Amino acid sequence: MPRVFKAIEIEKEEKEIMRDYLDRHMPHVICTDSVKRGEKFKVKVRMGEEYPHPDEDDHYISLLQLWNRETLLAEARYTAGVNGHRPNHVEVDFFIVAPDVSMNLSAMAVCTKHGLWQSEDKAVKVTD
Ligand SMILES: [Fe+2]
Repeated sequence: MPRVFKAIEIEKEEKEIMRDYLDRHMPHVICTDSVKRGEKFKVKVRMGEEYPHPDEDDHYISLLQLWNRETLLAEARYTAGVNGHRPNHVEVDFFIVAPDVSMNLSAMAVCTKHGLWQSEDKAVKVTD
């Protein structure tokens, strides 16, 4: 089992020292806070806020996944250079249909050099 890097487990002081490294490897789930049951909606998974991640032959983001609690909903795979061989914020838009109950979404990302990273949770309320 690989080590998973999670934002919540990293100390505040460490976060400040390693700010660029952490930022460029952290996936984010971006979507609405609430959605109607059965409605299709967009969920964006995006790497980093401030610092772009490299897209080099031996160092790039190879996988983004979207999870609802313990269930894998969707994933996107990338090859080196597909993002122009330039540092960038890898992102993907997934379109999913809201289930009957509220969701707790999270994202996982794989960097080919720095391993597996997990986003913070994003709660999405499902309404009638
Ligand atoms: Fe990396």
